Amino acid sequence: MSNIKEIQRRRTFAIISHPDAGKTTLTEKLLLFGGQIQTAGAVKNNKIKKTAASDFMEIEKQRGISVATSVMSFEYGGVKVNILDTPGHKDFAEDTYRTLTAVDSVILVVDCVKGVESQTEKLMEVCRMRNTPVIIFINKMDRDGKNPFDLLDELEEKLNINVRPLTWPISMGSTFKGVYNIYKKELNLFNPNKVKVEEDVLTMNDINDKRIDEQVGEKFATQLRDDVELIEGVYEPFNQDLYTEAHLAPVFFGSAVNNFGIKEMLDTFIKIAPSPRKRETTTREVFPEESKFSGFVFKIHANLDPKHRDRIAFLRICSGTFERNKFYHHVRLNKDFRFSNPYMFLAQDKSVVDEAYPGDVVGLYDTGNFKIGDTLTEGENFMFKGIPSFSPEIFKELINKDPMKTKQLEKGIMQLTDEGVAQLFIQQPGNRKIVGVVGELQFEVIQHRLQHEYSAACDFQYLPYTKACWITTDKEDKMKEFISYKYQQIAYDKEGNTVFLADSDWNLRMTMEKFPDIKFHFTSEFKAETLVV
Ligand code: G4P
Repeated sequence: MSNIKEIQRRRTFAIISHPDAGKTTLTEKLLLFGGQIQTAGAVKNNKIKKTAASDFMEIEKQRGISVATSVMSFEYGGVKVNILDTPGHKDFAEDTYRTLTAVDSVILVVDCVKGVESQTEKLMEVCRMRNTPVIIFINKMDRDGKNPFDLLDELEEKLNINVRPLTWPISMGSTFKGVYNIYKKELNLFNPNKVKVEEDVLTMNDINDKRIDEQVGEKFATQLRDDVELIEGVYEPFNQDLYTEAHLAPVFFGSAVNNFGIKEMLDTFIKIAPSPRKRETTTREVFPEESKFSGFVFKIHANLDPKHRDRIAFLRICSGTFERNKFYHHVRLNKDFRFSNPYMFLAQDKSVVDEAYPGDVVGLYDTGNFKIGDTLTEGENFMFKGIPSFSPEIFKELINKDPMKTKQLEKGIMQLTDEGVAQLFIQQPGNRKIVGVVGELQFEVIQHRLQHEYSAACDFQYLPYTKACWITTDKEDKMKEFISYKYQQIAYDKEGNTVFLADSDWNLRMTMEKFPDIKFHFTSEFKAETLVV
């Protein structure tokens, strides 16, 4: 049986933003449109509050909640929308990077007051590595923000992508009147006191329609006409292929908290966003339409209950049909497994599924067999590519506080790093364990979990590194020379790959210049990357 219909009607994506730009609010409103939640506030709990840095119970609670909201699916206009949730807290950015390997497109939320922020830039770099198509939602138009043209310039400049507004705001802040849909020629009026799912939309004959003046006043109508004329003159028309190839990002304006401008974006999203596409593996390209099942694990979630060490592995389906109780091949372990209780997620409920299709994500109970990036197939031996580890930014040495519990600590840190909580590097002599993370909060999570789940006590000692680079060369002697010269900064990842630990960007640049035969990679997947230091 062919899956083509099921594949074509799936849209699997993530919403990304700098914290506080409105990702959670937007997610919630999309779920309202999908009829998955009835009340606002339902998704809110998924956020680790910024103040919670040392509140372990809070972290635990949040981890539990985020299992339920890891994938949120709903039907809209005949399309099955799968939103893959990403943590709101920047210290969990690595989790977000990995989730981005499992989506087919993203919606980027930008705060109109703050513009492009640091985390936005980093997330877009990850999208660019995989040529992920992006739709941009400029949020909080009910506030006095930056000039929309300046925002577009900033997006193009800082995110290195061409943009094309599909809607345009009429004023902003206290005088925000609404948005004009340039392509559909529709006027969507903003009424801050009337928040509802259906929007007040008037279809115009064209931009010179006098009804615009009646609705928003002559001054704003004139401004809108001038702006749209400028847009048509400056920006290329929207082009589906350029969007799909990730060269062009359509831009929408709105206010998530007021549920404004979202329906327009969602309606466009389901039309233009890509359905599951082919993916590269170590041996060949795999197409979603293939009859045989394949998929990969992009996220692993530990059980909240310390008495049960089982975990949930999130599997993104890439081809064929996933069936409950069927044996599948775990390529790395060269072993077959079957899953009697695979989960699918509907907003905040999960239920056992019998079948799932490319683009879907299923949760598999795991007793420690999975690592991030593991591939399941119907027997063929290949691994999906493009699920790398990214360089951590903070490094600390793991210190064992209780020599009687060395084994537990070893096991614990191995399992936690398999889950992707942090990365582990080993330095010789002495098997020194260096833990690398993207955010400080991760150390607290690790310490807490090692204590509670493995009864192992540890401390962390700060190390002055800022980046881990995987290094390769085709000249064996040059590698030897490099390692002996820089032995204090050399470590090995869990797979035994050689890693150089840099202590500053400046130093790294100098080292790269001094050793031109050594290639420095910023992800564990050694393909051609732009080396931005
Ligand atoms: P995040 O997930 O990206 O971190 O952001 P989140 O949705 O939590 O939004 C951050 C804050 O911005 C929230 O306020 C939210 O209500 C507000 N917000 C979201 N969209 C809009 C918008 O269109 N206009 C305005 N003015 N504010 C918006 P908060 O005070 O942090 O939380 P809450 O107490 O309002 O829930």
